[in-house]
Amino acid sequence: MFNVAEVRKDFPILQRKINGYDIIYFDNAATSQKPVQVIEAVKDFYSKYNANVHRGVHTLSQETSKLYEGAHEETAKLINARGIEEIVFVKNTTEAINLIAYSWTLHNLGKEDEVITTIMEHHSNIVPWEILSKLRGFKVKYADIKDDGTLDYECLEKLVTKRTKVITIAHASNVTGVINDISKISKLAHENKAILVVDGAQSVPHMPVDVRKLDIDFLAFSGHKMLAPTGIGILYGKKELLENMDPFIGGGDMIKSVKYSKIKDCCTIEWNSLPWKFEAGTPNVGGAIGLAEAIKYLKRLGMENVQEHERQLTQHALKLLQEDENIVLYGPRDSLTKCGIVSFNVKGMNHHDVALLLDNFGIMVRSGYHCAEPLHQRLGAGGSVRASFYIYNTKEEIEKFAEILEKIENVR
Ligand code: ALA
Repeated sequence: MFNVAEVRKDFPILQRKINGYDIIYFDNAATSQKPVQVIEAVKDFYSKYNANVHRGVHTLSQETSKLYEGAHEETAKLINARGIEEIVFVKNTTEAINLIAYSWTLHNLGKEDEVITTIMEHHSNIVPWEILSKLRGFKVKYADIKDDGTLDYECLEKLVTKRTKVITIAHASNVTGVINDISKISKLAHENKAILVVDGAQSVPHMPVDVRKLDIDFLAFSGHKMLAPTGIGILYGKKELLENMDPFIGGGDMIKSVKYSKIKDCCTIEWNSLPWKFEAGTPNVGGAIGLAEAIKYLKRLGMENVQEHERQLTQHALKLLQEDENIVLYGPRDSLTKCGIVSFNVKGMNHHDVALLLDNFGIMVRSGYHCAEPLHQRLGAGGSVRASFYIYNTKEEIEKFAEILEKIENVR
């Protein structure tokens, strides 16, 4: 296990005081804080190397291209992809899912087909499929959850038919923290000749994820939730699937050649090789370099250790919140089946009021639907307060949080 006190020293923002209190940052499911190693790597890049990638024979462009490709390699290793041709850099998880929904779905799905998702998804794994279903005429079906917030696997199995072409699901819920059994769902998808899309936004930053072991066809995740800068996201796709897809966005660097024919008065275009075929325009090079450094940082800690640390924090938070009879908790009470996310309401209080009152004491949590309104509908909640943990959080912070919550309840 790593030394949390040492880890905390790497995060300059944790030195801040908010409203006179030491900051307690429990909004990690929204975005994580950044260690000095990542901040320095980005600064170093802009101070010493900055140039465009794949566009120049000069030294700076060559060096930058090498660093950028190295970031793809680092990412491929983290999730055990076969190589950088399976790693496409995008803006965030949302863009990655949109890329699959447009590029794969547009050419592969029609009126007869069905996509299965679940009621526990983030909007980014619902809205793109609904948009494409209107364009292509396929149906989107929603698997239900059980009352404890876990996926209803029987319901999911019953929804699968010969028409099912895609199962798309969060690895971990950004509201309840529930971790879905991706191996089991992967088998179900592949036995029925469907592809499996996994939203890894809340799993890849927090636990070991092996795309080959889990046999995932597409995996989407964001750098900013795993210590990296904002604006760098990742789409993993099996090579054979990516090879057979058309690009999502057209422009510079995603082509091998664009030839104009005067006779036909049009251009004939040859796509670039993977992954560049999907990376049109000048990419977020600084973000990619920050991501590579973030991955190195997490690997030094060990993803198993990251998961274990968060499990212990979550178990502690669940225990303290369960002891408080004014708290309504959502999701399982067992930290082994969920990641470091605890959502709740205080009886008789609005979730935003609770979050604002916590902010008065320097505690940052998220309130609202957390971009998962259908899940809140299903849970019978008009929103919730969410505390989400990461490598720099401590048991002492959770105790402080529970103590302040109790104080807040008295202002009802
Ligand atoms: N998807 C992020 C969250 O759950 C923004 O807060």
